[in-house]
Amino acid sequence: MSSVVSYEVINNVGVIKVNSPPVNALSQAVREGILNAVQAAQKDESEAIVLMCEGRTFIAGADITEFGKPPMEPSLPAMLAVLESSSKLVIAAIHGTALGGGFETALACNYRCAVPSAKVGLPEVKLGLLPGAGGTQRVPRIAGVKAALEMITSGNPVPAAQANDMGLIDEVLAGQDLQAEAIAYARELVESGALHNRVRDITIDPASIEPGFFDNYRKQVAKRARGQIAQDRIISCVEAAVNLPMDEGLEVERKLFSELITSPQSKAMRHAFFAEREAAKIKGLPKDTPVRDIKKVAIIGSGTMGGGIAMCFANVGIPVQLVELNQEALDRGLGVIQKNYSITVKKGKLSEADMAKRLALITGTTSYDDIKDVDLVIEAVFENPDIKKEVFTKLDATVKQGAILATNTSYQDVNMIAEATKRPQDVVGMHFFSPANVMKLLEVVRGDKTADDVLSTVMQLGKKIGKVCALSRVCYGFIGNRMLTGYGRQAHMLLLDGATPTQVDSVAEKFGMAMGPLAVGDLAGLDIGYKARQALAEKPDPRTCIIADALVESGRLGQKSGAGYYKYDPATRARQADPEVEQLIKDKAKELGITQRDISEEEIVDRLFFPLINEGALILEEGIAQRPGDIDIVYLYGYGFPVAKGGPMFYADQVGLQKVYDRICEFRDTLGADFWQPAPLLEKLAKEGKTFADWAKENG
Ligand code: COA
Repeated sequence: MSSVVSYEVINNVGVIKVNSPPVNALSQAVREGILNAVQAAQKDESEAIVLMCEGRTFIAGADITEFGKPPMEPSLPAMLAVLESSSKLVIAAIHGTALGGGFETALACNYRCAVPSAKVGLPEVKLGLLPGAGGTQRVPRIAGVKAALEMITSGNPVPAAQANDMGLIDEVLAGQDLQAEAIAYARELVESGALHNRVRDITIDPASIEPGFFDNYRKQVAKRARGQIAQDRIISCVEAAVNLPMDEGLEVERKLFSELITSPQSKAMRHAFFAEREAAKIKGLPKDTPVRDIKKVAIIGSGTMGGGIAMCFANVGIPVQLVELNQEALDRGLGVIQKNYSITVKKGKLSEADMAKRLALITGTTSYDDIKDVDLVIEAVFENPDIKKEVFTKLDATVKQGAILATNTSYQDVNMIAEATKRPQDVVGMHFFSPANVMKLLEVVRGDKTADDVLSTVMQLGKKIGKVCALSRVCYGFIGNRMLTGYGRQAHMLLLDGATPTQVDSVAEKFGMAMGPLAVGDLAGLDIGYKARQALAEKPDPRTCIIADALVESGRLGQKSGAGYYKYDPATRARQADPEVEQLIKDKAKELGITQRDISEEEIVDRLFFPLINEGALILEEGIAQRPGDIDIVYLYGYGFPVAKGGPMFYADQVGLQKVYDRICEFRDTLGADFWQPAPLLEKLAKEGKTFADWAKENG
């Protein structure tokens, strides 16, 4: 028998067990092993077959590492055809996550049972794909068209109980002993003479679908798909499930799957999948680096950031104390947390009981003495280096030795903060993004003296609280905010050169950004940047801020004051172009002696995104980021960069580094060298005909 699939007969039930760590993905060996085992079972004394997995999960999908390689026999559809035509009942027994091809395998079985903690789902859309092994044909046949569309276009997994209600799981087991319970269920089916159900035999009555349903659904999904094509193809497949016989539907599915798998979007999304997992790994740190036990956490500061961070810990059951200067500020902070949870409860996404549990884990204090014995402190106070140093001196004096002392600073020098303590090895940056309980990115900032076990602990903890971590060395703004400077600057300068705010933002949004840069400014508040500029010793170049300054000085602070680069509808918060701002831009351009001109879409894209790439190249060269993929992750999870473009560095490789380099040189020559200097690494790679991916390979 195969090394990754075993087969034995127990109590007259043939038990096929997959054991292919880490996630039992459907590699060629697994497919072949299952196929052979099913064929062997046809000829022995077994009366039914159970398909289950060892380890942490049922089959978690196709083996993504095989994508893009020449197909290897047996194909997944070939394996499923053998499963589906078994003369003996086949029962999938699910634990962990049955995802993608794994769930499609279960759907090709006659019955599905699962432990209560199991989840099933078709997450292919998150890789720019569609389920290519019958998922789009079988799920609507069982769960109905609407539920299938929701499940497959969102890619979100469904817990066992809900899957049971939807008919996707036939039996929820007790979950104490998967193998014994699955065998017992199989015996029960055999003994009760259960039918040889096959999902393919179910038909959907086309008349049950209201006219125009699919067109409407397409329109609805397009709004949230941000230019991704997979959702649309999924809808076409489900439409085929309604209108065509099973085998023809499968053909449609296969054809559209083949189209997607070679698409640049899917390539980008697969890159993002692996980059995300790679980013959690710290070069030079062995896998078995010890981690410190984090049982209790304290957060200094209960403002928007501190409160959001506290929620992250309470959400996973870790008690957290908020420390404030006075009771009033503390009450305010705790009140905001309560309100945020209540909103989630109202939306039906959290039960009252769970809210109560989480709130009970969050307590407050105004005394550092109360946090003496915590394992991790995260400082989230005002962005002022002196205040931060003061906090760390105090923490050093009170908190137990061995605790991790983290700062949530977005710009300040983590080394300098560490030096305010006698234990710089325990100090690390944990840069959350606002709102901290929602945004997935956690930039982990490694100070010069940060200990290895502190880094490994924070990386592991980040994952535990649902974050995607990326490591940065110390520099002004770390990876994300440092890169953002050039992007924001060009958005501003494009206005002076003749583009309108609507034009800049809509081009960025058409590119796939969650929100254009000027609209983001309005959302965050234009006064924040204004105050930061006022505090600078040296006055910034007016071309980078003259409009933003004028807006703030005329009381336009962004959404919170009802107007910024745009006017905002007080009821709907919808943004509207404002002729007053357009006039102000013209006046300011004139004041600076800039002749305005028509700006093309291509120029906007290149001027916004090429500075990100150029700064990214500097960041790599300086060793601030470990890999180009880490930079991509920062932008995908922290800045709304479109996943279908894979992140700025992956995007650069797709455009071609020579082209990026040439265009930056062209801007240097036409727009001025102040803000356009190609990074040496970009120049080198372009001249050598290489990509950032090549650099990553060469630099291990
Ligand atoms: N193919 C190949 N490798 C896979 C894989 C797949 N389908 N799914 C996960 N892996 C690998 C990861 O790359 C990682 O490898 P590494 O340890 O070398 O970095 C390892 O398995 C563990 O994955 P990770 O995501 O870190 O573990 P987890 O326990 O947090 O999550 C899953 C497990 C299965 C929920 C998650 O990996 C997942 O969502 N996988 C993708 C499933 C999918 O999209 N399937 C459809 C494919 S078309």
